[in-house]
Amino acid sequence: MGSVTVQIDTAGIWDSEAIADVAAATFPLACPPDASQDDIAAFIDDVLSAEHFAEYLTDPRHTILKVTENGAIVGYAMIVDDEPADPAVAQFITARPTTEINKLYVVPDRHGSGIAAELMETIIDRAHAAGRASLWLGVNQKNMRAQRFYVKHGFTQAGTRSFVVGSRRHDDFVMQRAL
Ligand SMILES: CC(C)(COP(=O)(O)OP(=O)(O)OC[C@H]1O[C@@H](n2cnc3c(N)ncnc32)[C@H](O)[C@@H]1OP(=O)(O)O)[C@@H](O)C(=O)NCCC(=O)NCCS
Repeated sequence: MGSVTVQIDTAGIWDSEAIADVAAATFPLACPPDASQDDIAAFIDDVLSAEHFAEYLTDPRHTILKVTENGAIVGYAMIVDDEPADPAVAQFITARPTTEINKLYVVPDRHGSGIAAELMETIIDRAHAAGRASLWLGVNQKNMRAQRFYVKHGFTQAGTRSFVVGSRRHDDFVMQRAL
């Protein structure tokens, strides 16, 4: 893994379209092989639209970090500085205040480049500086690459939850890391 020269900044509402494009291109990579194309397309339309990202970008509890390389967005993460909305998840989180990594995506041709690691380090530094006590996230139980990535960055399994994509419920691990 060589050193990378990318820029990581807080996204603004003007980035909504570009981030939605990256989200549409990368979300299918996080889905299990048995997720249907129709369900994935419905999730992209409903949840990952530019309009939705514009809403996230105007909600003070949400922060989107964008990774730019040669003028193009090649990855992003959405961070939620708030108590988990799902009580079934909240029971697994042991240190508070906690921050959720709600989305973390890098375009496929930059996987293994170190970009995702830089993005994660930025998230950790930011949360630490803000006095957060832990980070948590949900990851599909079949998404072995992402799980390995999170373990490399100090996350451990805390529990399970279900995650709905279109018409289907999928099994996630909940992972957390103390700060
Ligand atoms: C998750 C993601 C951000 C990680 O970034 P990345 O650049 O791929 O991460 P890295 O290459 O640093 O780490 C991945 C690790 O998984 C390993 N790996 C790859 N495929 C694997 C597999 N099928 N099973 C187990 N480990 C695997 C890699 O070898 C690497 O480990 P290593 O450094 O010990 O060799 C990126 O893969 C991504 O955007 N994936 C698609 C979207 C996604 O799944 N997002 C997470 C949603 S929760």
